[in-house]
Amino acid sequence: MIDRTAVIAALDAVVDPKSGQGLVAAGLVQGLTVAEDRAGFVMEVPAGETAIYAPVRDAAEAALKSIPGMARVSVVLTAETAPAAAPRRTAGLSKAATDQGRAKAPVATERPAHVKRVLAVASGKGGVGKSTVAVNLAAALAARGLSVGILDADVYGPSLPTMLGLSGQPDYVDGAIVPHVAHGLKAMSVGLLTKADDAMIWRGPMASQAITQMLTQTRWGTEDAPLDVLVVDLPPGTGDVQLTLIQKTPLDGAVIVSTPQEVALADARRAHTLFQRVNVPTLGLIENMSGDVFGRGGAEAEAARLGVAFLGDLPLDAALRQAGDAGRPLVSAEPDGDVAQRFAAVAARVAASLGL
Ligand SMILES: Nc1ncnc2c1ncn2[C@@H]1O[C@H](COP(=O)(O)OP(=O)(O)OP(=O)(O)O)[C@@H](O)[C@H]1O
Ligand SMILES: [Mg+2]
Repeated sequence: MIDRTAVIAALDAVVDPKSGQGLVAAGLVQGLTVAEDRAGFVMEVPAGETAIYAPVRDAAEAALKSIPGMARVSVVLTAETAPAAAPRRTAGLSKAATDQGRAKAPVATERPAHVKRVLAVASGKGGVGKSTVAVNLAAALAARGLSVGILDADVYGPSLPTMLGLSGQPDYVDGAIVPHVAHGLKAMSVGLLTKADDAMIWRGPMASQAITQMLTQTRWGTEDAPLDVLVVDLPPGTGDVQLTLIQKTPLDGAVIVSTPQEVALADARRAHTLFQRVNVPTLGLIENMSGDVFGRGGAEAEAARLGVAFLGDLPLDAALRQAGDAGRPLVSAEPDGDVAQRFAAVAARVAASLGL
């Protein structure tokens, strides 16, 4: 069991090059999470100074790793949005500690610059193919000639790096994160900011902070070439974390992915209710893994019950899984295949609902 005091002491032994103080005293340790054999925190530095702080992050990680019994550490280095608007907190640790106890810390939703529409892909239940749908829907929207980005907001199980074949930390230029580009999509995932699987130790408020930063600090578009649509792959579930996330994310619409079974449909209903609570329109339901094993038609019937559109169904198809595992959306790998055509139909409906 790692002792929190030891973690704080280790971090305070690392010096902030600007203030000359220890990291904790300098207010650079935010959202500190300490579990049995792991620890992690977010180091938020002024815009444009991430390069200066990269070695400090490495030193902080090394300091944490040197604590006996520490198996995994995660230090996420992020830049403040606007230096003037977000003054450095002098009591960062205690502020972060208070934040963690509060379910709904007030945070202004901020629209990402030069992004016309933000679309959430959600599911009540995990493992129903939400990320698979997000990636292929993004590719299908791009195939319509739209400029498309995809944000992996699933901090607890980021899958975009695998599904799009991404690796390597993104570059920071002028305080902004430069997204990776893969298969014509601008892509950003917390999986690119943290090492290995450490992201899973994050708690709710810290997770939404990371997502807000990836959303607003990534250079998705420019004034001359705005992004038409940003697809956000939300973490599964309908709990407090999801509620906080969707409250803080400026969403123009959501699509809900479900498999045809009743349990998944019940969770899809809950997801719809969650979006209703925050006034985000559910653009429709998508049935995934439709066919022999799970049955067919459940999502369409559920959409009718909820009074939302049914956007289409996708069969249980080994090629979809294989393409995802290989880092390439099936829609891009086989643009003329049946699956690509189904996604094209879904994309047409989604684009129309978003006015694109
Ligand atoms: N229609 C499909 N046919 C075959 N395999 C599929 C299909 N949709 C998804 N899969 C596979 O099912 C697994 C889960 O899919 P995916 O990761 O997209 O689900 P998810 O809802 O995002 O899961 P999580 O809740 O873990 O984020 C993956 O291995 C994926 O390749
Ligand atoms: Mg997923």
